[in-house]
Amino acid sequence: MELALFGAREDVMGNGAETVANAGTIGDEMWASGAISEAADRLVAEASSYNERIADVRPASPELAESFDELLFRAGETRGRGKLYPYLGSGAGNGALVELRDGSVKWDMITGIGVHYFGHGDPDLMREGVLGSIGDTVKHGNLQANWESYAFAETLLGEAKKHSGLRHCFLSTSGAMANESALKLCLQKHAPACRVIAFADCFMGRSIVMSQIGDSAGNRVGIPLSQHVDYMPFWDPDAAAQMGKARYIDMAVAHLVQYLDRYPGQHACFIFELIQGEGGFNVGDRDFFKALIDVCKDRGVAVWDDEIQTFGRTDRMFAYEHFDLGEYVDVFCVGKMTQVCATLFTEDYNPAPGLLSGTFTGETPTFRVGRRIVERLRDGNYYGPDGSNARHQRAFREQVGALMKKHPAWFPAVDGLGELCGGIGGMMRMTPFGGEKAKIAALSKILFEEGVIVFWCGHSPYHVRMLPPLGVMNESDWPRVFEVVERGMARAAKELGVG
Ligand SMILES: Cc1ncc(COP(=O)(O)O)c(C=O)c1O
Repeated sequence: MELALFGAREDVMGNGAETVANAGTIGDEMWASGAISEAADRLVAEASSYNERIADVRPASPELAESFDELLFRAGETRGRGKLYPYLGSGAGNGALVELRDGSVKWDMITGIGVHYFGHGDPDLMREGVLGSIGDTVKHGNLQANWESYAFAETLLGEAKKHSGLRHCFLSTSGAMANESALKLCLQKHAPACRVIAFADCFMGRSIVMSQIGDSAGNRVGIPLSQHVDYMPFWDPDAAAQMGKARYIDMAVAHLVQYLDRYPGQHACFIFELIQGEGGFNVGDRDFFKALIDVCKDRGVAVWDDEIQTFGRTDRMFAYEHFDLGEYVDVFCVGKMTQVCATLFTEDYNPAPGLLSGTFTGETPTFRVGRRIVERLRDGNYYGPDGSNARHQRAFREQVGALMKKHPAWFPAVDGLGELCGGIGGMMRMTPFGGEKAKIAALSKILFEEGVIVFWCGHSPYHVRMLPPLGVMNESDWPRVFEVVERGMARAAKELGVG
């Protein structure tokens, strides 16, 4: 077999079928073709020769402004939304840097809200996509699938099984749909119980039911309420420190028991987003979660762990590993960074036939890229107290600390928020300008123009949020990123009259 450019793999060109004997099909011959392998290498090398020319931040080109605005307007017309968020990629990018169609190059510190952990133009992932695109169909379904979809599921389950009882996996094409499947599993298992418990400030996606569970009034305008939800306060380290941790946890447990007693036998599940994403990068606490989980286990309420935003980004691959809670998780969802969205569940939650299905599960390139991402996370040095996720978090905090020291007026204290810089691993937040919504939004826009793409999270206070492509970043990139951040913040402070 030909040696592939990105590491020789003695399999059928990495489509995941390497663990079974070659069946001798025409398809096997095609996947093993040296000519196809070489052609893929050549395609990737050619594309990379363009991507590699992207080496630093660059302002938009005035000559491209008109055509960019026109395309953005046309894009907005298709959505019926007027002018959209001003991002239209050119298709070229290099690691944490991405080129837009207006000719600008920016640090991508948000990566499609946490999707592109390996950044832009990654040759290895590009190769998986190229090879995936020569399969006989683009889409796989629940009725007719090629092996790649199950190869992805096996690889993900291989990691999940290490520290949890999760045994099976149902694939879908969005996080919201993975959550819908999770809810169905909980409802069927505990029927006729139909209430759910969720944390305040949680986000679950934008299907009709997930918009109702997600704790954001603006996301459910005009949606008739059909799902009963009881909200629990999330872990608040400052309140816990003030009143004493044990007392805080006792109060939370009493709160939960009150709900369960008010509606006996009517709760199907408790949704744990162990580190809140949209809610503000709020990091939970093991003792707090464990006390609530103990009540759930005692009262027959499913423990559902939504890791759609956290997966891969803490100091372990799974947030439940970070909190050492894997053995208690009944149902689990993942998406974003994995490219493929999935609902994992224990043997106990394996549903009756007919509950979960659908035309599409995903596409061959997506499955191949997703599988490779999980393999690279597994085999790399991302995790542990000195893994690169933890080291990048420290580097981020150092940069914010230096900014706070140099420009204290940009960082006034925020009521009820102990730290103005926080998060964990590849989930990073800072809270300048008092965490005021309008100012954080204006700052994000200015940072975008200056050359750093960020977004916001939280609900009063609002934070500047980063979900950077840590898989391709060096710690030495942070001073370069923050040089642009400081320039943008100085401009924003002036324009907004801060400090
Ligand atoms: C925790 C969490 N759950 C669910 C979702 C929904 O995922 P999707 O946007 O792919 O439907 C998100 C998206 O941000 C999320 O952060």
